[in-house]
Amino acid sequence: MKKALKIAGIVIGSILLLLVIAAAVIHFRGIPAYDVQVPEVQIEYTPERIERGGYLANMVCVGCHISKNRVLEGKHMDDVPSAFGTVYSANITSHPENGLGRYSDGQLVYLLRTGIGKDGNYIPPYMSKFPHMSDEDMYSIIAWLRASDAPVLAASDSTPPQTQPSFLVKMLSNFAFKPFSYPEVDIPQVDTNNIIEHGEYVSNAVLECFSCHSASFTSNDYLEPSKSVGFFGGGNEMLDPVEGKPVFSANLTMDKETGIGNWTLEEFKNAIRFGQLPEGNSLSIVMPKYTTIEDRDLEAIYEYLKTVPPINNLELKGLRTAALK
Ligand code: HEC
Ligand code: HEC
Repeated sequence: MKKALKIAGIVIGSILLLLVIAAAVIHFRGIPAYDVQVPEVQIEYTPERIERGGYLANMVCVGCHISKNRVLEGKHMDDVPSAFGTVYSANITSHPENGLGRYSDGQLVYLLRTGIGKDGNYIPPYMSKFPHMSDEDMYSIIAWLRASDAPVLAASDSTPPQTQPSFLVKMLSNFAFKPFSYPEVDIPQVDTNNIIEHGEYVSNAVLECFSCHSASFTSNDYLEPSKSVGFFGGGNEMLDPVEGKPVFSANLTMDKETGIGNWTLEEFKNAIRFGQLPEGNSLSIVMPKYTTIEDRDLEAIYEYLKTVPPINNLELKGLRTAALK
C-alpha cells in the first residue's frame, strides 16, 4: 500500500513538474518565429489601384490602425478582451523608418498573406490576414498605402508600445495558431457577375465578417471559413470599450428567430453602414461602421448570407438582450 502511494506520488509529482516546465517554456519562448520568404512582386501604383485600394483599405486596415490623431500610427486595441493580453497595432503611415518605409512591398504581401512579419515575427489573430484576397486587390491596397496623399497616411514617427500577448495567446500560438502558407498560385479577381461568389469574397476574404460573427476567434478556420465553428451563427465574445463590458456578435444567418431571417435589405444596409438596428437602437461600436461600402458589395453580402446554413442560436438571444440594454 505504502509503495503504491509512493509510486502514485512520484507519478503525479512528475506530471506536475512537466506541466510547470511546459508552462515556463511557453512563457519564455513566447510566440514562435518563422522563416520569411519574401516574394518577388513589382507593384505599379496606378491611379486605378490607388482608388480601389483606398476603398478597400478604409474598410480593412484603417479601423485597427488609426490613432486619436487620425493617422495610421497605431493604437491600443481596446476591444481585444484582456484574455488575449495588451495589444497595440503598428505605425503604417508613410514615415520612412517608423512607418511603412520599413517594409518592402514583397514583405508586406508576405505579412498580409501569411501573418509573418518581416523579422519572422508571427502575428496572432488580433491582426487579420488575407489568404484569399485577390492579388489585384492586395496590390491596390499597397498602392494606396504607398502613393496616396490621404491625410491618414501623413508620416508620423510615433512607435506604439510593444504588444504584451497573454499566456493564452502564447500557448495557442505554440499549438493552435499557425501562419498560413504563402499561396502557390496567383489569386484572380472574383467574377462580380456571380453575386453569390462576389458576396462570399467580400464578406469572407476581404471584410472578414465571419471572423467576428462565428462562435469564437479561437475556433475560426481562416483558410476554409465555412468550417469555422458556428459559422455566421454569432456569439463571439468581444469587449465593448465604451460600455466596458462584453458584447456578443450577432447571428447573421437567415434563422428567423435568432438571426436576420426577417430583416429587409434596407435594414441590413442600415446596420452595416450606420450601426442602426431596425428598432432604432444602435449597435456597439465593436461592430465597425462601413459607411462607404458600395451598394453592389452590400447587396452581394446579403445574397451570399442567404446561402449560409441557418443556425438557431438560442443561447445568444439571452446574451444579446442583456448586451443591447
Ligand atoms: C483586426 C485589426 C487589424 C486589421 C484589420 C489590420 N491590422 Fe495590421 N496590425 C494589427 C495589430 C494588432 C498589429 C500589431 C501586432 C503585434 O504587435 O504583434 C498590426 C501590425 C501590422 C504591421 C506591422 C507588422 C510587424 O512587423 O510587427 C503592418 C505592416 C500592418 N499591421 C499592416 C496592416 C495592413 C496593410 C492592413 C490592411 C490590409 C492591416 N494591417 C489590417 C491589427 C490589424
Ligand atoms: C470586429 C468584429 C466585427 C466585424 C468585423 C463585423 N461585425 Fe457585425 N457585429 C459585431 C458585433 C459585436 C455585433 C453586435 C453588436 C451589439 O450587439 O451591439 C455585430 C452586429 C451586426 C449586425 C446586427 C445584427 C443584429 O441582429 O443585431 C449586422 C447586420 C452585422 N453585424 C453585419 C456585419 C457584416 C455584414 C460584417 C462584414 C461586412 C460585419 N458585421 C463585420 C462585430 C463585428
